[in-house]
Amino acid sequence: MTLDTPLDCKHKKQYEFNVRDEVAEKCKLGLHAMNGGEGPNSYAQNSTYQRGVVDAAKTIMEEEIAMKLDVKHHSSTHKMPFRIADFGCSTGHNSFPAMQMITEAVEKKFHTEGLASRVPDFQVFFNDQLVNDFNTIFHSLPPERNYHAAGVPGSFYSRLLPNASLDFAYSSCALNWLSRAPAAVADHTSSAWNEGKVHYTGARHEVFEAYANHYANDIQSFLEARAQELVSGGLMALLVPAVPSFKISNTSYTTPTEMDLIGSCLVDMTKRGRISKEKIDSFNFPLYFTIPRELQAIIERNPSFSMERMEILNNQGKLTLTSAHARATYLRAVFEGLLVNHFGGEIMDELFDRYTKKLAASSLFLDPNNEKSIIIFVLLKRKAE
Ligand SMILES: C[S@@+](CC[C@H](N)C(=O)[O-])C[C@H]1O[C@@H](n2cnc3c(N)ncnc32)[C@H](O)[C@@H]1O
Repeated sequence: MTLDTPLDCKHKKQYEFNVRDEVAEKCKLGLHAMNGGEGPNSYAQNSTYQRGVVDAAKTIMEEEIAMKLDVKHHSSTHKMPFRIADFGCSTGHNSFPAMQMITEAVEKKFHTEGLASRVPDFQVFFNDQLVNDFNTIFHSLPPERNYHAAGVPGSFYSRLLPNASLDFAYSSCALNWLSRAPAAVADHTSSAWNEGKVHYTGARHEVFEAYANHYANDIQSFLEARAQELVSGGLMALLVPAVPSFKISNTSYTTPTEMDLIGSCLVDMTKRGRISKEKIDSFNFPLYFTIPRELQAIIERNPSFSMERMEILNNQGKLTLTSAHARATYLRAVFEGLLVNHFGGEIMDELFDRYTKKLAASSLFLDPNNEKSIIIFVLLKRKAE
């Protein structure tokens, strides 16, 4: 089957089945990604929130490219393509409009600088974890795109591209994923052991601290890798999932989150003998939601970048999926690979069924006023060596 012919229904079903099989196989290796394919539980069909983030960032990104991108330098120093990378692009459906917007804004900048004849070719690198469904990206590439596409598999916490080869780095809704959950929170001999819980919300201070330290180290690794890959003067736009503040009481951090609700479903299943307690005690979501002040301090510790702009994105109102079913499917598209990896695929239907029922019964989770997540927009410029 070639990737550029549309899939008929029968092949599409088989393809999605193969994708699931393949993901389950790779999960056994300890890797995970968003749900692939384009079926009802896929990330592609359940990421309108992330698409809203791209839309909300459009004006700021265009403004920043118009003001800060040094196209004179690019056109005078090389006849190379203008290279852009999207770090953590998943199956691409939200990445394509972002890449279109960036390439058009760069092209416009060449025109306004009187360099219309020097508009370069564009090359876009789509990065995600090795187990990501790259087939779906390439299969769904917009036919009218104005760039050449390439896939770059691997963790964005390490080097992925050659030295000084990248003109523009971009990442949206991905830098809340840690390289892994901190080891100490699953270690029963550690003071940060997160017994009976699956995330840091409402957990002891040691648990939260282990997560915060891990996050700071991960972001430093990300910045160090990108500092080597970006050309001097290259820009990096980051859309980082976050919360406005950490502490809501002395013992509890952030607001109750979906991860806790999944945790409580897992605990219910333990009580019914469906999962062992050890399985829960050894599982923690590898996710962390920073606050603006903390992210700024981490970035400012890195000597290779200047902070050009940082603000909270105005995407309020697009955050809350008010139907329990829509919210559960959205979460399933994001977390299923991770959960299958640890708990096995057999319990997924029951887990998400329980989750949907808990959500439907909860006035807290479906009330848009309780939605506390924010997106921090950050624009960085690679300093000259
Ligand atoms: C919620 S999705 C966002 C996808 C896309 N950027 C969007 O806005 O729709 C987060 C993506 O980050 C990817 N990701 C998480 N950790 C990663 C890592 N260390 N290296 C590369 N990709 C990673 C996940 O596999 C997933 O595809």
